Amino acid sequence: MRNRKRLSSVSDTQHHLNSPFTVEWNHQLFNTDSAFDVGGAFSEVCNALSPVKVLPVIDKGVHQSHPELVQRMEKWSQSTNTNCCDPLIIEGGEASKNNFTTIELILESIHKEHLCRKSCVLAIGGGAALDVIGFAASIAHRGIPLVRMPTTTLSACDSGLGVKNGINYFGKKNFIGVFDPPFAVINDFSFLSTLDDRHWRSGLSEAVKVALIKDKNLFDDIESQSKQLIAREIDVAKRIILHSAELHLLHITTGGDPFEKHESRPLDFGHWSAHKLEPLTDFTLTHGEAVSIGLALDVTISKLLGFLNEQTHARILSLLKALHLPTSHPALANPELVNGLEEFREHIGGKLTLLMIEGIGTPREIHELDSTTLRQAIEELM
Ligand SMILES: NC(=O)c1ccc[n+]([C@@H]2O[C@H](COP(=O)([O-])OP(=O)(O)OC[C@H]3O[C@@H](n4cnc5c(N)ncnc54)[C@H](O)[C@@H]3O)[C@@H](O)[C@H]2O)c1
Ligand SMILES: [Zn+2]
Repeated sequence: MRNRKRLSSVSDTQHHLNSPFTVEWNHQLFNTDSAFDVGGAFSEVCNALSPVKVLPVIDKGVHQSHPELVQRMEKWSQSTNTNCCDPLIIEGGEASKNNFTTIELILESIHKEHLCRKSCVLAIGGGAALDVIGFAASIAHRGIPLVRMPTTTLSACDSGLGVKNGINYFGKKNFIGVFDPPFAVINDFSFLSTLDDRHWRSGLSEAVKVALIKDKNLFDDIESQSKQLIAREIDVAKRIILHSAELHLLHITTGGDPFEKHESRPLDFGHWSAHKLEPLTDFTLTHGEAVSIGLALDVTISKLLGFLNEQTHARILSLLKALHLPTSHPALANPELVNGLEEFREHIGGKLTLLMIEGIGTPREIHELDSTTLRQAIEELM
């Protein structure tokens, strides 16, 4: 009876069928130094997924820095009797997100290798490569299971855990894309050893971001360990990356809005300007660097709006500087920057919702930002 009542309402003029359903997702993160050991993290994932075939797609930067990787994977597939295709090597970095070329290459490979929907695409690379590979996997056959193996500090502590995939278009970040959670994420920290210093540092801005909106303990930890982080002490880096990754994962699984239906998007703190600064600088700023400048801008706005005290503001800027991250750029003065607000609103939909902070770990939403405050904040940073 209850079902019938819920299912339909019929009148002479209209028929409305209303039948809610839910889909269950499980978000899983493995942390390891040797994903391709037999019995290791990738074996565990394949035991759970039983893929008909695995297509590894590898970021060229990773492939070049880890020439033994392909052999290691071959050995793994022989030992575990897994049907693994020859890896496809794709361009990594932001350029791969700025057109359809890489998407077409991946789709072609999926087609030629006859991957089915019970197969698996294994994406190994930085955040840009993961976004592109994930998007291609999500549209081939309407979705082939994806396993992500992040290889940069940024993707290991942030983007690898996200449920978003996509590319830039019309000069707008992530204009084309889908929400599609990966089957599993495997952080293999051995990849990080070959990352260049600039990208090593730039990914740390996302850990600072999540600490600022969610967890003062993480902020304190990053602050007290900033020298070790810059010196690339791997045990310290692992702890902080893992802490940040967990906060990102839990935000998605327990935050109540995994597919961003609401107007507020806390994980995008500092991102309204970051996403505009990237195209305004022709992507000469990395995403992580743009986020660092975006954080500096939004904490300065938070101070000017009277939410954040001077001391905490200074402490946050000092940490970004201690991590050798930028807090300013001439492009902040570009009058087009302000369009980033409307583009951000349009991307999320509904009314403008920006996150500011009242303290470390204490966010506060605002729905408008007056141009005088914005100009003042930019002048202060410049
Ligand atoms: N989907 C999401 O939720 C989400 C979240 C945050 C950021 N992102 C995206 O992530 C991207 C930034 O990612 P990123 O900071 O990882 O940079 P990146 O993917 O651009 O990689 C940087 C460079 O490092 C190389 N590289 C990657 N791993 C390496 C390794 N282990 N050794 C040597 N070289 C290596 C790559 O080939 C590339 O040239 C941006 O496009 C951003 O929009 C996505
Ligand atoms: Zn980001």
